[in-house]
Amino acid sequence: MKRTLGVCYYPEHWPEEIWAEDARRMAEAGLTWVRIGEFAWSRLEPAPGRFDFDWLDRAIGILADAGLKIVLGTPTATPPRWVVEKYPDMLALDAQGRPRGFGSRRHYCFSHDGYLAECRRIVTVLGDRYGRDPRIGAWQIDNEYGCHDTTLSYSDAARRAFRDWLAQRYQSPDALNRAWGNVFWSMEVDSFDQIDLPNLTVTEPNPAHSLAFRRFSSDQVVRFNRNQAEILRARSDAPLIHNYMGREVSFDHFAVGADLDIASWDSYPLGFLSDRLDADEAHRARFLRQGDPDNQAFHHDLYRAVGRGRWWIMEQQPGPVNWAPWNAAPLPGMARLWAWEAFAHGAEAVCYFRWRQAPFAQEQMHAGLLRPDSAPAPALAQAAQVAREIGDLPEVGTAQAQVAMIFDYASSWMWEVQPQGRDFSYFRLMFETYRALRRKGLSIDILPPEAADLSQYRLILAPGLGHVPPALLQALRKSGAVLLLGPRTNAKTPHMAIPVPLPPAIEGLDWTVDLVESLPPAATVPLADGGAFRHWFEHLEGSGTPLAMTADGRPAVAGDARLRYVAGWPDADGWAPIVADACREAGIATVDLPDGLRLRDTGTHRFVFNYAPEPVTWEGQTLPPAGVAWWPL
Ligand code: GAL
Repeated sequence: MKRTLGVCYYPEHWPEEIWAEDARRMAEAGLTWVRIGEFAWSRLEPAPGRFDFDWLDRAIGILADAGLKIVLGTPTATPPRWVVEKYPDMLALDAQGRPRGFGSRRHYCFSHDGYLAECRRIVTVLGDRYGRDPRIGAWQIDNEYGCHDTTLSYSDAARRAFRDWLAQRYQSPDALNRAWGNVFWSMEVDSFDQIDLPNLTVTEPNPAHSLAFRRFSSDQVVRFNRNQAEILRARSDAPLIHNYMGREVSFDHFAVGADLDIASWDSYPLGFLSDRLDADEAHRARFLRQGDPDNQAFHHDLYRAVGRGRWWIMEQQPGPVNWAPWNAAPLPGMARLWAWEAFAHGAEAVCYFRWRQAPFAQEQMHAGLLRPDSAPAPALAQAAQVAREIGDLPEVGTAQAQVAMIFDYASSWMWEVQPQGRDFSYFRLMFETYRALRRKGLSIDILPPEAADLSQYRLILAPGLGHVPPALLQALRKSGAVLLLGPRTNAKTPHMAIPVPLPPAIEGLDWTVDLVESLPPAATVPLADGGAFRHWFEHLEGSGTPLAMTADGRPAVAGDARLRYVAGWPDADGWAPIVADACREAGIATVDLPDGLRLRDTGTHRFVFNYAPEPVTWEGQTLPPAGVAWWPL
């Protein structure tokens, strides 16, 4: 498949006289896609039922005449003022019970049926009008679910829907009382109507209650998305896409993705490093203008799974953003490297955000491919270079990796609800595990916990997977792969209780977690083979010789050669021998990459990316900072 480039464009922000010139310049730069419309509700329907599609028709016409294909967004992330006036209670409430007001975006509660009806109406009108229009190459539904902390809402609508959801799930209040252990602190209820949302309690609510609310809230996102997907499906054959975020785990992306055709995500490497990643100051300084060397790849691999193989970058950072604590400019060449890295991980398209920097409103400090005065910004030439290179490069394909990691959104909620140590984060545990694998030059597939056939993998990791569903356990055992589990794998029942027999309770693993401890940042448990456990350490009880020990002689990795349990959270030096040893057993070749260099093998090529701020030489080839190289495998 040919890889393609695109850009996000807001015709409603610019005088109509410049649309044609914009379109011509997009095509000239080699772009294929232009995404429009996702925030334009106030211009599409300025007053209830009064539609204005003339401008959109003209914009679509001009863009398509220049040879561009359109991704049309549904505008439901930005309900206009009149919608909020019609349904004042459609606003989400925060955990303190305060409404999240009008004046930016995403000001809606997923559970509000009146708002859902408005969304269904506008999406139906859009679908009727453009569903069979050949110029519309794809749809984007809403924009970045969960962004600005909008998945959880403590509104009346949410409370009502949560009670219904609980009634369906538990059938009787007694069953719920038992599953949650409500006898503790006299929390028992006689009816589902006595259950409130898990906020404003005196001290922490029952973790089972909080976890149920997380599961419910995720289901509400799925329901909201499905409503739009069904309407568009009935009216259009163009693929349906949502643009997910980085490091966003508040809803089950696999479940949302099941109703869509393509997953996409919005990649802001410098913004993430400044704002979202756990990293020390030295790491942030070293990668300030390149981004973390594993963050992009991690999300590429995750969203490839969410899209069941089909995925895009819907928004690619082109220059400084406006929203991180500090907003550096990328090194020259990074806007090209990021695109190639996405293609190497199987992206079908990479769209830059945005075409022209807006001189007004919230994002006026956010770079685009053009400056506000329409002169080219640095990323435009890099995008054009990528477009030329795509033309020269043969198909790169994607290949199944030898190594897989299981990613489970519910596990993230479990450990958020009950971290036990302040800095225990599922995402971080997964990300650091992924980084340890990548430093050994490995290509990785990320898989949902529903994965049924794992037989193609040689090594599978499932750290922190809070509850391992029986079907997954079976698939893991049947796979024949070397398994690396722990810490905290299978540590809870689905209702957030400690199972007895005690964890990990996995057949064939004759070790039990006897006691767990969380560790403050300055404390470590040094490991005999180098490095240390941080954050988390489990005391294992069992028979046989452990595969690795702590420096003071306690089990660090236990089990047998094929089924291994890691008893803590290894730091980078701790992971290296654990990964190397598991790979040796699995028959997977590893390399020790120079700092900042990363690899990705596709079906046909090896790609090499230099994230370091200095030139790096590897395998006889020197890559400059932001350098990309590829050769046939
Ligand atoms: C994304 C969003 C875009 C824009 C961008 C700025 O979160 O989808 O609309 O706000 O960030 O970086």
